[in-house]
Amino acid sequence: MRIRKYVVEGPVRLKGEVKISGAKNSALPILAATLLSTQPCTLYNVPKVRDVETMIRLLEVLGVRVDVDFPVLRVYPKKGRRVLAPYSIVKTMRGSFCVLGPLLARFKRAKVSLPGGCVIGVRPVDLHLKGLSELGAQIRVEKGYVYASADRLQGKKIYLGGMFGSSVLATANVMMAAVLAEGETIIENAACEPEIVDLAEFLVKMGAKIEGAGTPWIRIVGVKELAGAEHRIIPDRIEAGSFIIAAGITRGDIKLTGVEIGHLGAVVDVLKRVGLSFWSYKDGSLRVKGQKRLRPENIATLPYPGFPTDLQAQFMALMTQSDGTSVITERIYPDRFMHVPELNRMGANIKREGPYAVVQGPTELKGAEVMASDLRASAALVLAGLAAKGRTDVWRIYHLERGYENLKEKLKKLGAKIWEEKG
Ligand code: EPU
Repeated sequence: MRIRKYVVEGPVRLKGEVKISGAKNSALPILAATLLSTQPCTLYNVPKVRDVETMIRLLEVLGVRVDVDFPVLRVYPKKGRRVLAPYSIVKTMRGSFCVLGPLLARFKRAKVSLPGGCVIGVRPVDLHLKGLSELGAQIRVEKGYVYASADRLQGKKIYLGGMFGSSVLATANVMMAAVLAEGETIIENAACEPEIVDLAEFLVKMGAKIEGAGTPWIRIVGVKELAGAEHRIIPDRIEAGSFIIAAGITRGDIKLTGVEIGHLGAVVDVLKRVGLSFWSYKDGSLRVKGQKRLRPENIATLPYPGFPTDLQAQFMALMTQSDGTSVITERIYPDRFMHVPELNRMGANIKREGPYAVVQGPTELKGAEVMASDLRASAALVLAGLAAKGRTDVWRIYHLERGYENLKEKLKKLGAKIWEEKG
């Protein structure tokens, strides 16, 4: 089989308007949450990306009918007794692990494969399991599968923090289980990400009782049953951040439409300090303009509302063009640095030491053949390719397609020279 790659010819200055898609990381747990409903649900603004397609496949394996007409999905209530999420699917996408909470809460049992390894580092699921067992579930792990069962979950006060702070999908899993539990659950040190708020809003529309989503304390009072609901997925803040950085690295001028500026606080703040200019408009659009001279900036990735780990790689690509030294600290996934050697292949001067990367700018980037390792690292390589002189071949683009909707087409519309080839 011939492997697909993107070829990017730089340098270019991006200019024009781009529409931001719905958030992948919101769509995934919300799709899992439809398992809780006894009636059909309709979702709008769902991005057509590989991970969402994988989640749809998993729902179908579980006996759910999904009518797909992107960006609209109609999801019907689950039929049959199947509560098995197989390794073949879960291993390809960790997000699918969040069917565990809903399956357990509604069908009293679940068998979900452990997600397994991940290139961005060790990603355990201990917090998910701790939360669910505190709700009273019997949990055992055997031969790579989590077996969970409970006649009726019992609400409880649960502390859900770990070594690296809160966990987004563990919060989602426990919240989705607690909505059908008996009595009150308080999740302490809950993740505050907008995707958790979006999930909570969807659950509330289904009839759940949830307060405090978006803060570290979420209070849930269990109900007996959840009904169908209609919901529009929030805009993808990571896609938006990636285009903002694209404007910075190409010294371009881009208007982003369909964004939620309120979700981009840390990103806009950091990039203003780097030297980018922003204008926000009443219709929800955001104009961002780069400039020739970029200032270096130190960042540390943190849970929301801090600077997102999902933009660390793209920010690093940008800092190769800044006038000085930047220190980038990865506090969520200390091993998420697979893009460092690839950026260095293009001429960057980046040294990594444990969870720190020191970027010495400015360096003239030159096109090279580079290997994408994960979704966000691939985006960083494409961005670097836009700024680099000559031709950059980005291999393993299937990573990109997991989470960016029509990236190639969107960049082309902004003036990028990017196309697909088979190698
Ligand atoms: N962690 C534990 N135990 C757990 C769960 C997490 O120690 O049981 C640790 C992780 O190893 C990490 C930290 O807690 O150090 C935070 O991880 P989190 O659980 O929040 O990550 P996640 O929920 O598995 C989601 C996104 C990721 C994003 C992270 C952090 C989805 C589908 N995935 O993952 O998105 O990087 O939150 O914001 O929502 C991506 O889109 O490229 C991506 C990787």
